[in-house]
Amino acid sequence: MIVDGSSAAAIDQAARALAAGELVAFPTETVYGLGADAASEAAVARIFAAKGRPSDHPLIVHVADADAITPFAGAVPAFAQRLMRSFWPGPLTLILPRREGVAAAAAGGQTSVGLRCPSHPVAQALLRACARAEPRVNGLAAPSANLFGRVSPTTALHVQAEFGEALMVLDGGACQVGIESTIVDCTRGAPVLLRPGVLTRAELEAAAGQPLLSPGQLPQASPRASGTLEAHYAPEAKLRLMDARALRTALEVLGPQAAQLAIYARSALKVPSSKIVFRRMPDDAREVARQLFAVLRDFDAQGVRLIWVEAPPDGPEWDGVRDRLQRASAA
Ligand code: TXA
Ligand code: MG
Repeated sequence: MIVDGSSAAAIDQAARALAAGELVAFPTETVYGLGADAASEAAVARIFAAKGRPSDHPLIVHVADADAITPFAGAVPAFAQRLMRSFWPGPLTLILPRREGVAAAAAGGQTSVGLRCPSHPVAQALLRACARAEPRVNGLAAPSANLFGRVSPTTALHVQAEFGEALMVLDGGACQVGIESTIVDCTRGAPVLLRPGVLTRAELEAAAGQPLLSPGQLPQASPRASGTLEAHYAPEAKLRLMDARALRTALEVLGPQAAQLAIYARSALKVPSSKIVFRRMPDDAREVARQLFAVLRDFDAQGVRLIWVEAPPDGPEWDGVRDRLQRASAA
């Protein structure tokens, strides 16, 4: 059931449910999360079962502030501290060495743990209520609240469409960031960008005070991360990324497929049939990130079989959106 996340009574009820080992979905500024007590193996097992996600794919643990990482994280390198100071609360996840014996199931058995401090007021209120709950809940393990491999939810209704009425969903409105957090691995001696989000590489490097590496620049293989699988975040319809020219050519030769086609493009295009669902892509990368997953879900809801998307520009502010579109088109 969907409940108003701004109600103190709803927050208390949600915290009690979480302390009792149940699942509760909650809003963050990036996407909605499916939360459970990070310290409870049984509660975390429910997340994996509900999502249909392999249990060795690690989850992100959400905390109310930087101090609250202490029960979970071991040594925190100086560059990670600088990143936390600059971007928390906010859309940044840090992979840190995990304290032995803590949140092993949530971490999918890795010796590291993903930690994030979300800025959304409902997430903040929930995390603070959890820390006061009996028994105390120190952190919430929460993957995006969608079935494995599907587009992340950015509204309470999206979450309900994935999991049904029985799940408690705190409603915090539409997510303002709209794509998942940037993930930086801080366990390798230097920061490594595992998943781009809306924070640019330049912003992250300025805050960290050193260059950000890519996973390929390191000798050891990266840990398994479902957000880094090639085909992920996919709508039901087949998504193709094209530049404006390819789009125009494809539209010229379009036959009866028009009835099942949706287009999401920045460029002015002559759309040859009123049956085509057209959505203009904004020029601002942050705005596209905010609406992207809702647009893809809306296309699916209209029953189209093809989605043609104009490839985003090359600028670094588009890295997160480009990454999600590339993965969606690989499915
Ligand atoms: O914005 C977000 O990050 C959202 C909201 C709910 O916070 N959460 C999210 O969770 O996107 P999820 O589970 O859908 O994606 C988390 C990613 C996965 O790719 C996972 O493999 C990676 O984080 N991850 C988590 N812990 C990790 C670890 N210890 N080592 C490497 N990757 C890790
Ligand atoms: Mg996800």
